[in-house]
Amino acid sequence: MAIEWNTKRMATGLPEVDTQHQEWIRRFNEFDKAIVNQQGHNTILSTLDFLTQYSETHFANEEAIMTRLNSPALAANRAAHDEFRGKLAEIKAWVSHEGVSIVEVVALKMTLEEWLVNHICTIDIQLRGTDTRM
Ligand SMILES: [Fe+2]
Ligand SMILES: [Fe+2]
Repeated sequence: MAIEWNTKRMATGLPEVDTQHQEWIRRFNEFDKAIVNQQGHNTILSTLDFLTQYSETHFANEEAIMTRLNSPALAANRAAHDEFRGKLAEIKAWVSHEGVSIVEVVALKMTLEEWLVNHICTIDIQLRGTDTRM
């Protein structure tokens, strides 16, 4: 199932971060679609690469913003981003592996999806109410 942007639950109020989260979700959904439609392993891998690239761009940006704003959530955010990198690497290894069953890929994809939503709603959301004039 695709992730839907939910302003009430997900918006940090920082337009730059919120726009990136929407794009991040869009890229996740492309990856999700490739799996659900069983588009074959090259398409799945390329959407996964897009998601990975965008995750790195977004993480670097978000960590820079948190550093600038002296956010108390920075350390937890960095650690969580590393955890996500690990999950991405794990799923990439599974998808690359010949003959891997769709059941396993779907299960891994769902942990990624859960992580992503949970991360935005618990860690990134701590940017909410931050004074950006600092
Ligand atoms: Fe984050
Ligand atoms: Fe984020």
